[in-house]
Amino acid sequence: MTDTILEVQNLKKHYNQNGGLFSAFKGKENVIPAVDDVSFYIKEKETMGLVGETGCGKTTIGRTLLKLIPATSGKIIFNGTDITHLSAAQFRPFRKKIQMIFQDLDAALNPKMRIKAILQEALTVHCRLSDAEIDHRISELLEMVNLKKSKLSNFPNELSGGEKRRVGIARTLAVGARFIVADEPTSALDVSIQAQVVNLLRDLQKELRLSYLFISHDLRVVELVSHKVAVMYLGQIVEMGLAGRIANAPRHPYTAVLWSSLVDKKSDESIKNEGNPNEGQWGVFDFERPNVGCRFAPRCPVYHAKNRPTICTDPATSPQLQKIDDAHQVRCHFPL
Ligand SMILES: Nc1ncnc2c1ncn2[C@@H]1O[C@H](COP(=O)(O)OP(=O)(O)OP(=O)(O)O)[C@@H](O)[C@H]1O
Ligand code: SF4
Ligand SMILES: [Mg+2]
Repeated sequence: MTDTILEVQNLKKHYNQNGGLFSAFKGKENVIPAVDDVSFYIKEKETMGLVGETGCGKTTIGRTLLKLIPATSGKIIFNGTDITHLSAAQFRPFRKKIQMIFQDLDAALNPKMRIKAILQEALTVHCRLSDAEIDHRISELLEMVNLKKSKLSNFPNELSGGEKRRVGIARTLAVGARFIVADEPTSALDVSIQAQVVNLLRDLQKELRLSYLFISHDLRVVELVSHKVAVMYLGQIVEMGLAGRIANAPRHPYTAVLWSSLVDKKSDESIKNEGNPNEGQWGVFDFERPNVGCRFAPRCPVYHAKNRPTICTDPATSPQLQKIDDAHQVRCHFPL
């Protein structure tokens, strides 16, 4: 076996929901392909960044990997074992190794438990420890995440955002995580605290050989922490490659548009000159809008500049994720 810790093959997670006012009358259900045929792998000590605008399916991937929600189809292989269809009991030994830092700071910590009890519970959920061992492990964890011992007697609502995040991280380590889905770990934190959390995650990675799926809207942070990056659009990965290449030489028009939104970065001139024909309509991003062929076509500057070639919107020629270079894949008929 290689040093691949997690491999995802053709993962799909489709949600069923009533299709709004009118389709409800017709008794019709809409299927939201929140994750639609996604494949990637992550190696030991590696961070894969996952970016894309709100609602594109990032958290759904994370929750599916942790088996918090069942996959519709596809495979999740952890450290060589196919965990996709394991029962709760069969999954238990893996559960402690695959952890998630949740997007919502507050939802992750039980408001009625003191910090010490939260860590204690995490330490003893999968193994028995004596009181002395628990105290020793808690001291180690506090040191690792740089949290004051005095905070152990506090409730979560008595902590700052950064402190809550540290407790969340300590809890995943207490359980014995090897692979962590970090879902927006820096959101809702002050800029200086964001840097501390990012540095903490990087230090822990080196020390404990952790692997991360790092989900974030903050492209600068993603570029900084990730070895490779996957860019998602409406449930699909549209580009994946080494972080530096994705940030500085994107080949998919959507990646270029995303990164060009960073103020001090020069966007690809061709994209800039053509402008975004749907400017101001980023809200049209919508799974419920029927779309054939390339899902990005309605907003794609290249598609519009090329006078809307049929190959982009014909369902028979939907672009596939294709290798265009070493470790670089793109889903576009006209890569930049
Ligand atoms: N339980 C659910 N039932 C139906 N639809 C859902 C459910 N959970 C998520 N969705 C839909 O699936 C899509 C993907 O949601 P998800 O939370 O994965 O997005 P995200 O990329 O994490 O967004 P954000 O950046 O805002 O956190 C959205 O359209 C969302 O409305
Ligand atoms: S396939 Fe066509 S519409 Fe889709 S991103 Fe590429 S150029 Fe744009
Ligand atoms: Mg999310």
